[in-house]
Amino acid sequence: MSPEGIREGLDTRFMGQEVVYLSTVGSTNEVARAMAARGAPEGTLVIAEEQTAGKGRLGRRWIAPAGTSLLFSLLLYPDLTLEQVPRLTMLASLAAAEAIESVTGLPVRFKWPNDILIRGRKVGGVLTEVGVTEERLDYVVVGIGLNVNWTPSQVPELAGKATSLSEELGREVSRLELLQRLLRYMEGGYLRLEEGYLPHKVFTSRLANVGEKVEVVLPRGKEEGFVEGVNAEGALLLRREDGMTVGVTMGEVA
Ligand code: BTN
Repeated sequence: MSPEGIREGLDTRFMGQEVVYLSTVGSTNEVARAMAARGAPEGTLVIAEEQTAGKGRLGRRWIAPAGTSLLFSLLLYPDLTLEQVPRLTMLASLAAAEAIESVTGLPVRFKWPNDILIRGRKVGGVLTEVGVTEERLDYVVVGIGLNVNWTPSQVPELAGKATSLSEELGREVSRLELLQRLLRYMEGGYLRLEEGYLPHKVFTSRLANVGEKVEVVLPRGKEEGFVEGVNAEGALLLRREDGMTVGVTMGEVA
């Protein structure tokens, strides 16, 4: 991949039109945050072949061998409140799902809040970070990692939990095609978001475990219940044993 290659044939207005392409970096999210501080334009794409300190949610690491995956961050300046930011995370998951399905035909589901799954195993994730001044949103960095052409099942701690597109498909997949489609879907969704579109219903239609009993690991403790879906702000709707439905905003389905 190259910045020229990414821009060539990319039919977006702004998403990915400014490209920062790095062979190795700590974390693309960190670079995108630094770009925000320098006033980089909306839709700036920071993409790397390799991350030495790739960040996952909850302080975890995101691992991918050099040149095998899609590791990138998008810089956005949305007109949203802090509470509405999960709309962007849902949008990014949906853009990834649509891109994966259109390129590979593989069925994509989500595990709340941000896991992208194929046949129950994690193929990607989204890490959204915000810049805030006096409780006002300055910028949002949406970081996306997708396992494309490598074999996570060979890594002991990932075996049985993670997968990749090549592992599922039995052949390599064009990272460039996948990226360009994802950027197109992301831009389309983002423009609709600005017109008031809410992605939670489509997100829920791809959510794993709907109607099933799950355990959600919270920052402190656990919550059990039947998954009903997600609400407009991305909270997981759980119906507890006592019949009450609660909206869980922090944590993850176990
Ligand atoms: C998760 O599932 O925990 C989220 C993983 C997000 C990983 C991507 S890779 C590109 C971007 N840069 C990072 O440091 N993290 C995100």
